[in-house]
Amino acid sequence: MKPIKVGLLGIGTVGGGTAAVLKRNAAEITRRAGCTIELTHVATRTVARAQGVVGDEVQVSDDMLAVVNHPDIDVVVELIGGTTLAKELMLAAINNGKHVVTANKALIATHGNEIFARAREKNVMIAFEGAVAGGVPIIKAIREALTANRIEWVAGIINGTSNFILSEMRDKGSSFAEVLAEAQRLGYAEADPTFDIEGNDAAHKLTILSALAFGIPFQYDKAYIEGISTLDAADIRYAEQLGYRIKLLGMTRRTAQGIELRVHPTLIPEKRLIANVNGVMNAVLVKGDAVGSTLYYGPGAGAEPTASAVVADLVDVARLLTADPQHRVPLSAFQPDMLSDEPILPM
Ligand code: HSE
Repeated sequence: MKPIKVGLLGIGTVGGGTAAVLKRNAAEITRRAGCTIELTHVATRTVARAQGVVGDEVQVSDDMLAVVNHPDIDVVVELIGGTTLAKELMLAAINNGKHVVTANKALIATHGNEIFARAREKNVMIAFEGAVAGGVPIIKAIREALTANRIEWVAGIINGTSNFILSEMRDKGSSFAEVLAEAQRLGYAEADPTFDIEGNDAAHKLTILSALAFGIPFQYDKAYIEGISTLDAADIRYAEQLGYRIKLLGMTRRTAQGIELRVHPTLIPEKRLIANVNGVMNAVLVKGDAVGSTLYYGPGAGAEPTASAVVADLVDVARLLTADPQHRVPLSAFQPDMLSDEPILPM
């Protein structure tokens, strides 16, 4: 079987992790994918640094569009973040008939309707497991394992940086600013950490989970968003004295009036499992009518946890491309359907 060739846009924390996992676990990945997955091109603003990371066998340049247009590349992995250039490049890749793997939650949450419509026209796959909860396989869980259910609600801790800040402030008495700087050093925080601490990053992820769980279009602008920047050590202490932990939760549920999407700090009784999810860990609860309540837990940010999801998506693309066409799973099985017209409650 001929190898699948990958062009990587951006080689920061997650891009570096992706290159490392592809290399280290090449034998297992090849066996599971049914062919080799070869990183052949990287486009980045920091060419010399990137060449050091990936070695001489990978072509590194600063020309993102050249990678997207390259005739040899089957899959583009978009890890540059942001919504302007990333959108342009992703649409160019789709127009060229290339499959795309992305961890860009802001882009999917705010332009997902247009992106998936174009992907359907061009019959290409957009895979985005790494966009929500890092290494926790929540997209596949909702889309595949829970597909028999009518989902009632989804709720969870889906921003590692804010959870890390709240946990460290409580456990070590560190200041908000100190812990945020540490989260940035560890590569958990967004390029603009305001998105982490003001709840926008959690709301991007919640928008994606809501679209998948309820089959509705992506509607980030309808979410109620409140972050953790107004909390201080005293709030955390008082909550603890009353037997609660404060967590930044994202919640989406069906109500009689429509679907609700909200992100805000929440008091959770300390005995609940989710109250004990600390540090960069994420946890998502999903309630389905058939299965009942289920919980998904794991590292929500960081190089290799997120790379674990990105590489799994590459394996999905490879399986699709190498499958016998007569028995191939239809592309629609991998994409959100967005067909429900249930209203979203304005907040
Ligand atoms: N900044 C994000 C977080 C990265 O802290 O959860 C993972 O999406």
